[in-house]
Amino acid sequence: MGGEETEATLMKTIIEPFRIKVVEPIRMTTPKERERILRDADFNLFRIRAEDVLIDLLTDSGTGAMSSLQWSGIMRGDESYAGAKSWYVLEERIRDLTGFRHVLPTHQGRASERILFELVGGPDKIVPNNSHFDTTRANIEHSGAKAVDLLIEEGKHATTRHPFKGNMDVGALEKLIQEVGAKRIPLVMVTVTNNSGGGQPVSLENLRAVRKACDRHALPLFLDACRFAENAYFIKIREKGQQDREVRSIVREMFDLCDGATISAKKDGLVNIGGLLLLRDPDLVRRADELLILTEGFLTYGGLAGRDLEAMAQGFEEVVHEDYLHYRIRSTEYLGEKLVAAGVQIVEPPGGHAIYIDAAHFCSHIPAEQFPGQALVCGMYRAAGIRGCEIGSVMFGGKGRKPAMELVRLAIPRRVYTQSHIDYAVEAIIELFGRRGELRPMKIVEEPPSLRHFTARFAEL
Ligand SMILES: Cc1ncc(COP(=O)(O)O)c(C=O)c1O
Repeated sequence: MGGEETEATLMKTIIEPFRIKVVEPIRMTTPKERERILRDADFNLFRIRAEDVLIDLLTDSGTGAMSSLQWSGIMRGDESYAGAKSWYVLEERIRDLTGFRHVLPTHQGRASERILFELVGGPDKIVPNNSHFDTTRANIEHSGAKAVDLLIEEGKHATTRHPFKGNMDVGALEKLIQEVGAKRIPLVMVTVTNNSGGGQPVSLENLRAVRKACDRHALPLFLDACRFAENAYFIKIREKGQQDREVRSIVREMFDLCDGATISAKKDGLVNIGGLLLLRDPDLVRRADELLILTEGFLTYGGLAGRDLEAMAQGFEEVVHEDYLHYRIRSTEYLGEKLVAAGVQIVEPPGGHAIYIDAAHFCSHIPAEQFPGQALVCGMYRAAGIRGCEIGSVMFGGKGRKPAMELVRLAIPRRVYTQSHIDYAVEAIIELFGRRGELRPMKIVEEPPSLRHFTARFAEL
């Protein structure tokens, strides 16, 4: 489908472009039960059992539903240790989609990052990105290098509207290279879409400009391409001159512009587990192969079962179908539109995989030190069994650090929830907004030394 319209794009109603063949029942809970569950979990939703959640919007990573063709691929999976047929199916699919000849399978995105930065990181090195995702940053820092974010100014403000708020500030990149010298920068990375910055896309124009800057200083460009298809669809609908192109061709141009990519297939690979490392430089490939064998597995399975490789191969095919992408981006936007219309402030415009509620606005009576985002996630669970994720002073605060925004992320699993599930979430959140003054400030009563959001215990003040 180039520029042609289909029923899915002509009509206002968002149609899920699939029929449901298998269902997973959701367990209904009462407000009284949820109150007990919340208290037993010390007000930390990571401590709650998934079966006690009605609508789980904690993450879009690995939580998607597979298609009938993916499930049939699971049965075809070749479990041979070396040279499995399923590997060649995946390798061919990825070569065809991205143009990369060297494809390394890993068990998830951070495994690709660990291999890459063990090879190119190290003390005194600096790695720029639009915004590093937390595992990318952690792997870079683990190698002794420094991770630097160079997002455009518009991307740093919740309500500033810009079609590509994930863009890298190319002037700031040039400045960094001048200041520290190209020798200290092993590669430049761009995350598409920009998860840490609200799931905002990066334009082709920006990618081309970053490429040019890299060429001027002979630097490799890498993509963190977990959500490459969502990014490509945003380019198609928002960037001048791209409307008539097929998403597949935009995807190919994005990959053609770079020298490598780390991918968590748990997002746009439409699978529950899996990752990829794509490389061009033969010397890097040789060294990456050694590390892959050392910690992930042999080159033709990399920490995955043959059946996972089959499911991935099919997932990477289905994710570039434009009916799917239209439904995906439109349904996220739909959730955002309904909340905004009711006065709930969100990061605008809506990102690809999630809506980020401005918790500082929602709970304007709760100061950052008393965790407005945590109060809101607890309020949503109590009211309607919805699980969201605090991204604010709990996740990024403490030890003298203060995050720029207090957000609650509602991440949408792929192909899992229907429009009525989203309508239910909208109704519940709007109802809660109407009585937001009842949301209680919180304090941390116990926390681990790092990554405290996963296990901290809270109490209401
Ligand atoms: C942008 C980005 N990069 C990397 C990762 C890491 O991937 P994984 O969770 O598969 O290790 C994620 C996961 O959420 C991500 O969103």
